[in-house]
Amino acid sequence: MKNILVTGGAGYIGSVLVRQLLEKGYKVKVLDELFFGGESLISIYNNPRFEFIKGDIRNKVTVQQVLFNVTDVVHLAAIVGDPACSNQPELANEINWKASKYLYDFCNEHTEIEHFIFASTCSNYGKMEGDVFLNEYSKLNPVSLYAELKVKFENYLLSNSIRDTFVPTALRFSTVYGLSPRMRFDLTVNEFIREIAFDKELLIFGEQFWRPYCHVEDLARSCVTILEAETNKVKQNVFGVGDTTENYQKKMIADEILKIVPNANIKYVHKDEDPRDYRVDFSKIKNELGFQITKTVPHGLREIYDLLKNDVISDPYSKNYRNI
Ligand SMILES: NC(=O)c1ccc[n+]([C@@H]2O[C@H](COP(=O)([O-])OP(=O)(O)OC[C@H]3O[C@@H](n4cnc5c(N)ncnc54)[C@H](O)[C@@H]3O)[C@@H](O)[C@H]2O)c1
Repeated sequence: MKNILVTGGAGYIGSVLVRQLLEKGYKVKVLDELFFGGESLISIYNNPRFEFIKGDIRNKVTVQQVLFNVTDVVHLAAIVGDPACSNQPELANEINWKASKYLYDFCNEHTEIEHFIFASTCSNYGKMEGDVFLNEYSKLNPVSLYAELKVKFENYLLSNSIRDTFVPTALRFSTVYGLSPRMRFDLTVNEFIREIAFDKELLIFGEQFWRPYCHVEDLARSCVTILEAETNKVKQNVFGVGDTTENYQKKMIADEILKIVPNANIKYVHKDEDPRDYRVDFSKIKNELGFQITKTVPHGLREIYDLLKNDVISDPYSKNYRNI
């Protein structure tokens, strides 16, 4: 039976993924330093196939010990997002590059580990030139330390020579939204609808800029798709994760919000330039691995709106729901 290590498994994406893996019958270990608390793990904590290790991926001894008996690794632990990385550049470099590289090299040297999935990002594209859709073959143009470190790791994963039975894959995630046991309200869709649910004025900066979005359940499921794919299709390969129909300008998200709350108070602050403005074509993961999304941004907006209107989260403005 697979025994899958998820680093950062208490986080927004990880806590959804870990549940999916347990439902599939796999054994799951989570290594997480719990920067944002560990409540997301409570309801699975007693599952006999679940194991939690509180620790930091920068600790080499912890990494070596935790990999004992592990068959596959999904590496999510990171300093996440442009603001968090630019606020703590040294920490970002230590975790997102140095410690991640040590973990990867160690896995490459240990023959019992097959898959290594790296959580990369569509932020790597930066800005599209002209009105084109970007994909896995497009030139990358990272415009933040966060994206630079993701590109650096992707390049290492894709070009370094590895043992025959090692199957590393980089996944370029869309911007995520939706309900997770560890909520985040610093992500565009979740943040926009929170402001409206609390009758605040929503200020949108640069309403014309494009970005692809993906529900956290679909995004987590892409990791399961890789773990179960034919290894020759995913080995030292990169896939965007999302759906080509789910690219939105911020104004389009606002229009979807107005369908839920017609009198929503939305104001636009015009910006001529945004270094991150991209539309992505996700045909590769669909055509080569049969990956399909099940939810869309309008669905996610309603999901979060209902959650907040029903007071399920007592303080959605708490710092635990932000990565900065
Ligand atoms: N959320 C998005 O929109 C998005 C988009 C693209 C890529 N990603 C990538 O997906 C991954 C997960 O993102 P998320 O939104 O779930 O973030 P998150 O911040 O909710 O989760 C990250 C988890 O990693 C843990 N962690 C961080 N550094 C650690 C360390 N040194 N040792 C042990 N644990 C550590 C944190 O405690 C946290 O629980 C990240 O690699 C991120 O860059 C996220």
